[in-house]
Amino acid sequence: METFEHTILVADDEEKTLKVLDINLKNKYRVILAANGSEAIEYLKNETVHLVLTDLRMPEQGGLDLLKYVQQHYKHIPVMIVTAFGSVENAVQAMKMGAYDYILKPIQIAELERLIEKALHYARLLNENVELKERLKKYEGYREIITANPNMKALLETMKHVAATNANVLIEGESGTGKQLLAASVHYMSARADKPFIEINCGAIPANLLESELFGHEKGAFTGAVSTKKGKFELADKGTIFLDEIGELPLELQVKLLHVLENQKFTRVGGTQYIETDARIVAATNRKLSEEVNKKNFRSDLYYRLKVVYLQIPPLRERKEDIPLLVNNFIEKYKDLNADKQASISISEEALCILQSYYWPGNVRELENIIQQTIIFAKYGQITSDSLPSEILENAIIPSLTKEELRYEKNKRTGKIIRDIEYNFVRRILAKTGGNITKAAAISGYDRRQIQNLIKKYRIHTEDFR
Ligand SMILES: Nc1ncnc2c1ncn2[C@@H]1O[C@H](COP(=O)(O)OP(=O)(O)OP(=O)(O)O)[C@@H](O)[C@H]1O
Ligand SMILES: [Mg+2]
Repeated sequence: METFEHTILVADDEEKTLKVLDINLKNKYRVILAANGSEAIEYLKNETVHLVLTDLRMPEQGGLDLLKYVQQHYKHIPVMIVTAFGSVENAVQAMKMGAYDYILKPIQIAELERLIEKALHYARLLNENVELKERLKKYEGYREIITANPNMKALLETMKHVAATNANVLIEGESGTGKQLLAASVHYMSARADKPFIEINCGAIPANLLESELFGHEKGAFTGAVSTKKGKFELADKGTIFLDEIGELPLELQVKLLHVLENQKFTRVGGTQYIETDARIVAATNRKLSEEVNKKNFRSDLYYRLKVVYLQIPPLRERKEDIPLLVNNFIEKYKDLNADKQASISISEEALCILQSYYWPGNVRELENIIQQTIIFAKYGQITSDSLPSEILENAIIPSLTKEELRYEKNKRTGKIIRDIEYNFVRRILAKTGGNITKAAAISGYDRRQIQNLIKKYRIHTEDFR
């Protein structure tokens, strides 16, 4: 018996139609025939089906019932409606319910075949998508990239497309914009996902050790090389190597890296034997690498080899719509840190507005840190503007304030800063003196009454310091 890649389930109460379809489809597909909806459902439970072709009006369960059932239990199987010319409206209704397409009787076989191929292709894409999501869940290192920004969304689309290829990728973005996250996504969305994702920060390793880190060394290659060691390129074989801060790569290593890209092989430090490598390269930089090329700090031939696909992540300040989403995400992530043990934490509108008016030089990482810090002391389950650190309050640019509002904001913030300073000051001297007010006054230059006022103002308990 011939085996076919795809199985088509056909449901129709007219024997004649079933026969015609069977004869025309059975030399390309495995065909299962059902006389009504309930029979079709029985087959679905026991067989692997890739496409359902169904009539609408049938005794027992009709085509719409069958469609509903498939939608509920086998979302990945496309359903195509076969319908008589007189009942196109029903077919349209079925389309609204999620049928993939419809074909009119009498059936034109060529047309039917074309539609079937299209539907099967669609089903394949659908399945790949589901599989991808399932697969990603498996990887602990993988985190979803959150965004509502159109430019970011376009960038993620490009990333998904190129992930499937072997093309080298260059990622540019300011510090904390998510370069590493994006690099990991390229890897985990590629066919290499089951193979290693190896990271190396070219800026964090002293230049004299970097070559051996990247390419490994032979025993005795240099003092301290007591045994043979594999480099990152060898470890990343069949997987992906993430070269972070590629702009920091010394010129002589740029030459070696270029050779590796051109020849897919390299030698360990102190070695003569060539080692083949099939590692996909994703590089990242927070400088403008083209400027480094202009300044002759970076070889242009290497630059173009790395930059087959170029992904530039916009800074957070250019995608303010992402801030609320990210804030909520980080609140969820860190809510257990809250000192009051509030079950849920929110953020006030004012605080969110301030966060959206800040410049974010450290981008998403800075935002994550701020939320992590402020959530600890958030009172009554809410992050308010009072809980934000002064560097944010001072530097946030609140747009279009009137003069009065500006003065009010200034006073409020200055007040907050003074309060912070006073509070910390009193606590510090009380800690030094074990909560003794007289001594605290003596070492601080304030008199007892002033110290007592501050203690009262900030509701500090001196016994806490004993
Ligand atoms: N769009 C995003 N959605 C969710 N988390 C994000 C997003 N962008 C960045 N992050 C988080 O922010 C932090 C910083 O991201 P990442 O380390 O990828 O940035 P980077 O550009 O590599 O920074 P650096 O230049 O400092 O190395 C990480 O914890 C990351 O998970
Ligand atoms: Mg990084």
